[in-house]
Amino acid sequence: MCPGSFDPVTLGHLDVIIRAAGLFDEVIVAVGHSATKAGFFPVEERVELIRASCDRPNVQVEAFSGLLVDFCAARDAGAVVKGVRSGDLDYELQMAQMNRRLSGLETVLLPTAPEWGFVSSTLIRQIASMGGDVSPFVPDAVADRVADRARDPG
Ligand code: PNS
Repeated sequence: MCPGSFDPVTLGHLDVIIRAAGLFDEVIVAVGHSATKAGFFPVEERVELIRASCDRPNVQVEAFSGLLVDFCAARDAGAVVKGVRSGDLDYELQMAQMNRRLSGLETVLLPTAPEWGFVSSTLIRQIASMGGDVSPFVPDAVADRVADRARDPG
């Protein structure tokens, strides 16, 4: 299970998803959302953008809400895979340790590729909202959609 908000998916996320697909027989990219918190993109669009960016036979993309451990149990997923940048370690460790305590679910942390270590969805949204070019940091299918959304948040 590769969980995240993916709001929007970046080339850093995609690198982790593709590496997970090389390590495991099947990968589910789980797009987390909450009914009370609107994202930059609605969750259905985040799912669609990941599908458009990652065409691998052993990768599926699904939305989920609620506890990650419950979604993993429902899909019979044996492990969580997350990318970790240098500043993320405390947060990722805390979630990994809590998920293991909640249900025994293990987490595999993959160091992000150095070329994407500074990329985050938060920065992508900020740059796009100020008219900057985010195309070097996101999949082709995502770049125009981020710029359109930043111009017209709907
Ligand atoms: O890397 P992100 O985008 O911050 O990941 C967020 C996500 C969806 C993985 C995280 O918020 C999550 O796991 N949400 C589900 C709720 C949950 O299980 N909370 C307890 C985690 S210890």
